Amino acid sequence: MKDQILSIKENATKEINDAKDLQSLDGVRVKYLGKKGELTSVLRGMGALSPEERPIIGSLVNEVRDTLEELISSKENSFKQAELNKKLEKEKIDVTLPSKKAIRGSEHPLNRTIEEIEDLFISMGYEVIEGPELETDEFCFERLNLPKGHPARDMQDSFYINDEYVLRAQTSAVQARTMLKYGGTRPIKMICVGKTYRREDDATHSHQFNQVEGLVIDKKENKVSLADLKGTLEVFVRKMLGENTQLRFRPSYFPFTEPSYEVDCTCFKCGGKGCNLCKQTGWIEVLGSGIVHPNVLRMNGYDPEVWGGFAFGTGIDRMAMFKYGIPDMRYLYTNDVRFLKQFDRKDID
Ligand code: DAH
Repeated sequence: MKDQILSIKENATKEINDAKDLQSLDGVRVKYLGKKGELTSVLRGMGALSPEERPIIGSLVNEVRDTLEELISSKENSFKQAELNKKLEKEKIDVTLPSKKAIRGSEHPLNRTIEEIEDLFISMGYEVIEGPELETDEFCFERLNLPKGHPARDMQDSFYINDEYVLRAQTSAVQARTMLKYGGTRPIKMICVGKTYRREDDATHSHQFNQVEGLVIDKKENKVSLADLKGTLEVFVRKMLGENTQLRFRPSYFPFTEPSYEVDCTCFKCGGKGCNLCKQTGWIEVLGSGIVHPNVLRMNGYDPEVWGGFAFGTGIDRMAMFKYGIPDMRYLYTNDVRFLKQFDRKDID
């Protein structure tokens, strides 16, 4: 029996070594170690052995089985490794091939407009100040000469969070914040750009939009005047909408300025002749502005006998729409790449 086992070992070892692939290797395993395999049937025949021989033969069979299993598994691994190597060879990457062209996004027309405005005012010596979008009623209205119950509050339909807090309806709130921050001690030359909110939503209004606010305060002896306001706004509007744009100052009312002006510019589409965009008037309203009201100065720590200046504010979304010919404000907020792609570098051409 011992010889039979050793010859099984020898044959099996040879067949394992000769196996050409995983399939034939598995055939060898079944032939010798399977349920009906040669080595297994030797074990079955052990009942016929004497009690002394049984453990000797038993341990020999186990030893041979272990050896064969080990051989099979190492052969199996070498087949698998060879297969992997073949696959790796086939899938080799040529890193010198040119890559796929990366898709480049383009800057949102609103952001581009905002950056252009900030660059312009920084170049004129303004600082850019930020304020909170969730404002208090105090800063958004009261400190701008708009006490509770003032009829001019109706000009802005606002989102109130509670009696005290409101989503700011105008960046003018930052005027009061800046004056308080500087405590009536130094001149101010700032713009604030940011999101504002109102309860409106149609083709030319969105419940959330952007404004730029400007505030210039200096000692009275330095005579910051309406002429300075006019000059500043001319530079601003011409930079944004074209060098040939003319401005018109119309007396108006804002609670935080006195006198107040609404500023119209010649229609950039028809050049002032009259068209559907300007409703045949030749003019388009673009800005609110005026000389800072003494009450606003006083309430925010600047003595109106000593200090004075001008302020202005406008919607940036509208300006971007004019600049790029966008017919509906809501396009600015739908994040449709087909829309965004159309403005890729258009202002640079
Ligand atoms: N805050 C005004 C609005 O949202 C715009 C405005 C008008 C701002 C006159 C000013 C100003 O600073 O002086 O309609």
